[in-house]
Amino acid sequence: MSCHKSYITTPIYYVNDVAHIGHAYTTIIADTLARYSRLIGQETFFLTGTDEHGQKIEESAKKRGKETKAYADEISATFKNLWDDFDISYDKFIRTTDEDHKVGVQKAFSTMYQNGDIYKDNYKGNYCISCETFFPASQLVDDEFCPDCGKSTTIVEEESYFFRLSDYEDRLLAWYHDNPDCILPKSKRNEVIRFVEGGLNDLSITRTSFDWGVKLPEEFNDPKHVMYVWLDALMNYVTALGYGTDDKNMDFHPARVHLIGKDILRFHAIYWPAFLMSLDLPLPKHIGAHGWWTRNGEKMSKSKGNVVNPKEVADAYGLESFRYFMLREVPFGGDGDFSQKALIDRINSDLGNDLGNLLNRLIGMSGKYFEGRVESDLVAKYYQAELDEVDASLAKLEPMIFELQLHKYLEELWRPLTVANRAIDKYQPWTMIKEAKTDETMALNGLIATILAKVSLMLHAVMPKTTATIIEALGFEITPESFKRIIRKGEILAPFSIEKREPLFPRIEEQLLVEKKPEEAPKKPEKKKEKQVDKREGIALIGIDQFFETSLKIGTVVGAEEVKKSKKLLLLQVDIGEEEPRQVVAGIKEWYSAKEILNTQVCVVVNLKPAKLMGMKSEGMLLAAKDGDGLCLIRPEKPKSNGTSIS
Ligand code: MSP
Repeated sequence: MSCHKSYITTPIYYVNDVAHIGHAYTTIIADTLARYSRLIGQETFFLTGTDEHGQKIEESAKKRGKETKAYADEISATFKNLWDDFDISYDKFIRTTDEDHKVGVQKAFSTMYQNGDIYKDNYKGNYCISCETFFPASQLVDDEFCPDCGKSTTIVEEESYFFRLSDYEDRLLAWYHDNPDCILPKSKRNEVIRFVEGGLNDLSITRTSFDWGVKLPEEFNDPKHVMYVWLDALMNYVTALGYGTDDKNMDFHPARVHLIGKDILRFHAIYWPAFLMSLDLPLPKHIGAHGWWTRNGEKMSKSKGNVVNPKEVADAYGLESFRYFMLREVPFGGDGDFSQKALIDRINSDLGNDLGNLLNRLIGMSGKYFEGRVESDLVAKYYQAELDEVDASLAKLEPMIFELQLHKYLEELWRPLTVANRAIDKYQPWTMIKEAKTDETMALNGLIATILAKVSLMLHAVMPKTTATIIEALGFEITPESFKRIIRKGEILAPFSIEKREPLFPRIEEQLLVEKKPEEAPKKPEKKKEKQVDKREGIALIGIDQFFETSLKIGTVVGAEEVKKSKKLLLLQVDIGEEEPRQVVAGIKEWYSAKEILNTQVCVVVNLKPAKLMGMKSEGMLLAAKDGDGLCLIRPEKPKSNGTSIS
């Protein structure tokens, strides 16, 4: 890879709440990329920070009886402290309340205005404070609720400055088409293209209804306006480099990758490139959108009491094991469910058995046969086939990391460890030494050391301290220079002596964190429920609110396949207006073929707890009626938009 500058960013986090596992996930991926870039000798700038303006923050502070800036200072510090605790290698922690950031945002506003992209008009629309976004009436749920977070929207009518986003449709589409990797994973790029092809409205980029934001530049002489928080926030990616002030680090622009969660893809994949085009600045190389972490299949929220605190997990299980787990456990872009069991399995198996134990075996064998000495000069003579296998795996790795295929990267990186463990079992050093095959035995130890060295160098960005410990045991240090020697040039390890040490990953036998039982979660005061029974039918009666606890929506089956080993099941992908189709495993194969159900509309229960059927996750249930003649699906009489609520 050519040696150039590498700029890596996380989203800037809202200061209305403290960090949870989702924030830690984004930051840890970004940290991994930044560390990797540095290791391969690229000049790297890694940015993170906090997003502190907007109505949501103002209201959060008010609710707690705090002055807004003081409140923002407090929460921003909790993020910074957490990242420091987590050894996150950021080069700058930006706050949108920083003076130079505000100056930069104003500069951008003036430039966009001069370039003819901003005009003033009146705006009336439904605004979701929680998402800080206007939604057209057509996108609202039940004419009122936010399609993204489900909260009630308010009608806001105000004078506003607009950004001519609609002018950028063609240029954006051309960018997506010309740069197949601009949005990762690629499936997300298709979603964005479909959205933009549906037409873009101009974007309201100022507010007059509150005060907590960046003011317009003085020349506008319009003090009642503050900037829209997403304009303010997105600009952090350039103001952090000195845009609008000293331009000091602008040569790092554009980003190699902006890491984000899938919920904020639209802002990054549509607004951000359009703003950059308006400013005549180059566009990012990649925007990487990861999926959501859930808890037992549910979205995490304070009210449910199921939020995973990253610090607690890291303190209990070790920060590096936690990092490895998050990156290895879910394919980038997919959702992941956090459980201690899955974490413990990864630690005991991948880290303990495969990696940690290999180091122990090396220590044991070299101690017993060679007083701790390890020499690698004869490795190629005896074990060329193993070396080739290892190098073939390693050669696949580098492209994966910047395509954000981190789970695959780690999976592939584990193959050399298998090669090493297998070689010990195959060549049996305990027999070789008895047969006086001293050279072969020493070379086998050399092979193990070489594999541990290569794997540790390639794993360094994910587990910096653990790998530094391993490499130190192998007699050298991790630096861009040693990376180049061992990985790029394939140099053999210098002879060294290895000493006994404690196991790297002692086996974990039981869960280390006490789980909150659901009943301990704060509950809403319970209404007295007396079962009423309808005399005529003997059916238990429920109140309307109980009925509305079930969320029913219209969806279209966009994918259907037969589950081979099952007589009953079809595996469906149902678009219910969410960012991704839901997977539903339905027991309807006796009455419907995959082909005939494809592209038809169905009614889906969308708030059932996910279930597993024949090992496949099912995230909903189709409404159907069954009598002696068989089963039929319940469908809307006329086509309805996906996601339409049924009531
Ligand atoms: N302030 C905006 C970002 C502005 S960037 C110019 C914002 N902040 S946030 O604090 O709400 O979210 C920050 C990131 O955390 C997002 O990328 C979001 O996707 C991620 N996560 C929040 N909850 C999450 C999970 N439960 N799981 C995974 N990540 C999620 O949005």
